[in-house]
Amino acid sequence: MNSARGRLTKDGIRIYEPGDYAGMAEAGRIAATILDDITFHISVGQTTAELDRIITEMVAAHSATSATIGYKGYQHASCISVNHVVCHGIPADKRIKDGDILNIDVTVIVDGWFGDTSRMYVAGKLPRKSERLIQVTHDALFKGISAVMPGNSFGDIGHAIQTYVENHRMSVVKDFCGHGLGQVFHAPPNVLHYGRPGTGPVLEEGMFFTIEPMVNLGRPETKVLADDWTAVTRDKSLSAQFEHSVGVTATGCEIFTLSPTDIFYPTYK
Ligand code: MF3
Ligand code: CO
Ligand code: CO
Repeated sequence: MNSARGRLTKDGIRIYEPGDYAGMAEAGRIAATILDDITFHISVGQTTAELDRIITEMVAAHSATSATIGYKGYQHASCISVNHVVCHGIPADKRIKDGDILNIDVTVIVDGWFGDTSRMYVAGKLPRKSERLIQVTHDALFKGISAVMPGNSFGDIGHAIQTYVENHRMSVVKDFCGHGLGQVFHAPPNVLHYGRPGTGPVLEEGMFFTIEPMVNLGRPETKVLADDWTAVTRDKSLSAQFEHSVGVTATGCEIFTLSPTDIFYPTYK
């Protein structure tokens, strides 16, 4: 009855097989291509609902399926989180203003494999403080990715991210985390973006998961609005996020969601 691939570790983390990386890379490539292509649709006065409509069409044009439409009742092909929205922003008819920063998060299913990625975009002129936040968040993701190799622990990933962010006097969100994925959207482990070295499960070749740090300019606390999705900073400070889906390899990691046109960051024109 177990049609799932590979095996599970004692922590319930699936170990995929060498032949499974290609499926993840294709799903990741399509998710990243959609984020590349939406770059040129971001402008002041645009609504996030319109951006989501365009993303929905792009998903179909790639013969992919949106993983988020219908997920726990969510009805959109993207989450679009503007300014102090930390994550899970629902596309809406509100217009984007000059200087707004936004995260767009897209997850597609291709041939049964999930590609999950998000990045930051800017409308109009980017304020200096927002630019710093985006830079630190992006670099924090790559600090975490640098810790991905067999023998390291998930705590090493979290620690790398947390120390980098806090050294820049910003804060890591602790209420949301990355996750295992593969032939499912969300699976063990919870990939925390903070932690102590050498703690948590040990990384093994064949593990597939996301790293998706959310960083606030102010305090780390969040709250979820009455719509049950939108997470915002409690202190209304700006928040940023970048997300990649990765697989542990024998020597390090493969990033499945790299930007095919190398515009993951900076993404503003
Ligand atoms: N893509 C998000 C993540 O990184 C999850 C979005 S779930 C949704 O895990 F339902 F809000 F779309
Ligand atoms: Co994710
Ligand atoms: Co995501």
